[in-house]
Amino acid sequence: MEIRQLGRTGVRVTELCLGAMTFGREIDEQESRAILDRFLDAGGTFVDTADVYGGGASEEILGRALSARRDGIVLATKFRMPMGDDPNSGGASRRHIREAVEGSLRRLQTEWIDLYQIHCWDPLAPLEETVSTLDDLVREGKVRYVGASNFTAWQLAKALGLAALHRWEPFASLQPQYSLACRDIERELLPLCRDEGLAVLPWSPLGGGLLTGKYRRGEEPPPQSRAGDSTPSSFLMRERLKEEHNFAVAEAVGKVAAELGKSPAQVALNWVLTRDGVTAPILGARTLEQLDDNLGAIGLTLDPELERQLEDVSALELGYPYEFIDWITRR
Ligand SMILES: NC(=O)c1ccc[n+]([C@@H]2O[C@H](COP(=O)([O-])OP(=O)(O)OC[C@H]3O[C@@H](n4cnc5c(N)ncnc54)[C@H](OP(=O)(O)O)[C@@H]3O)[C@@H](O)[C@H]2O)c1
Repeated sequence: MEIRQLGRTGVRVTELCLGAMTFGREIDEQESRAILDRFLDAGGTFVDTADVYGGGASEEILGRALSARRDGIVLATKFRMPMGDDPNSGGASRRHIREAVEGSLRRLQTEWIDLYQIHCWDPLAPLEETVSTLDDLVREGKVRYVGASNFTAWQLAKALGLAALHRWEPFASLQPQYSLACRDIERELLPLCRDEGLAVLPWSPLGGGLLTGKYRRGEEPPPQSRAGDSTPSSFLMRERLKEEHNFAVAEAVGKVAAELGKSPAQVALNWVLTRDGVTAPILGARTLEQLDDNLGAIGLTLDPELERQLEDVSALELGYPYEFIDWITRR
């Protein structure tokens, strides 16, 4: 697996990151550990989780599995989503971040978190409070780098500006949704990350499974699938299946895959992996077979004509002012 720099930090990560959202949720500890082992055996070193996945179970499984080999892993986790009913059990306040980091360190059985990410913008917490608390965690050695997830571009730009002004630790990475089925970050966030040198770690690079071709127009989703299940991500998955556009993109991926003799998942992941500015897509898997399939995304080259077919069907309407700026620039 290729090694890439995590944004402007000095740390190196593999070009694929293993996401542990299914651990302790769709799959039990034994299955989770088999997937983790296969990923590490394939040369992967970068693993992503969150305190909220499986209500803490994902971090606990990783903690038990990684305790003996922690040194070789770049471990990313997140805070912000509610962990209980108490109004302070989530959010990006100093109070909650302090509580959350101790919980994650305990469940992960580690003395440090390599990349500590805010899971989503919090409109209630002052940004100064959040960014300065994250800076404290870095200085205390509990956290090596900090990252954002699910921010708009103005929110991320404001956080970077504040960090620069106060000499606080800046966000080193962004974890956004990005795939052929969701290219919205190409308007603002991806150019911002390229300009500021942030690592980009796309979540749902397969559109939650949509781009594997397992869902068919007008048919019930397979029972053992994200749309057929009742996990917290199922709602988002069923929303995706209401969009005709998504089926058109999935079909185009299937067509390109058939021409190449590859699987649709490999084509869809390879597209994300090779976008300018992307550091490492985060792989999600429920089974070893899915992981093996997805690992085959590496080393595949899409020729320009096939890439054009994928780009055309999934193209984003940029709108104003992007199209105006583009038009003026090209004149
Ligand atoms: N920051 C955030 O807000 C956020 C949000 C979501 C995820 N994430 C992170 O990103 C990671 C990946 O997200 P994701 O799971 O949504 O990614 P994804 O790659 O788009 O979807 C993964 C799901 O697709 C199905 N699948 C995967 N490979 C397949 C294959 N080869 N053939 C058929 N089906 C396949 C499996 O679901 P089924 O078998 O159940 O259909 C699997 O759980 C997560 O683990 C997490 O670390 C972050």
